Amino acid sequence: MGIPQPSFYIFKCEQSAPPGMPKPSCVREDTRELFQHLGMKLMEKGLIATVQPVRTGCLNRCQQGPVMLVEPGHYMYVELTKEKIDRIIDEHIIGEKPVEEYLIDEEFWDAPLSPVEAMKLSGR
Ligand code: FES
Repeated sequence: MGIPQPSFYIFKCEQSAPPGMPKPSCVREDTRELFQHLGMKLMEKGLIATVQPVRTGCLNRCQQGPVMLVEPGHYMYVELTKEKIDRIIDEHIIGEKPVEEYLIDEEFWDAPLSPVEAMKLSGR
């Protein structure tokens, strides 16, 4: 038997902007510990072998930050707190039922454009 691939990837935006920048960022004084919290919770639950947390740059939903994307499925969680992360791990990762109330509003997360559609829109 080979090495099992992860069952989930969790991409956590770790972008921070200097104070005074007009664009908000996901890592601020009050949200600095969220990635560490995510990793610790996954370890505590014995999930680190199958759930891969990944630090990323901006995921382009800064106004709703802090955000994280759970794959597979393109589940974008917004306005994260430690308590929300705990519930997402229990209900989505372990219970396989996404926490609907923490997901981004459809208005900001519509169906994806196919690469062919995107190329047409850009005139290529
Ligand atoms: S800074 Fe996190 S989504 Fe843009």
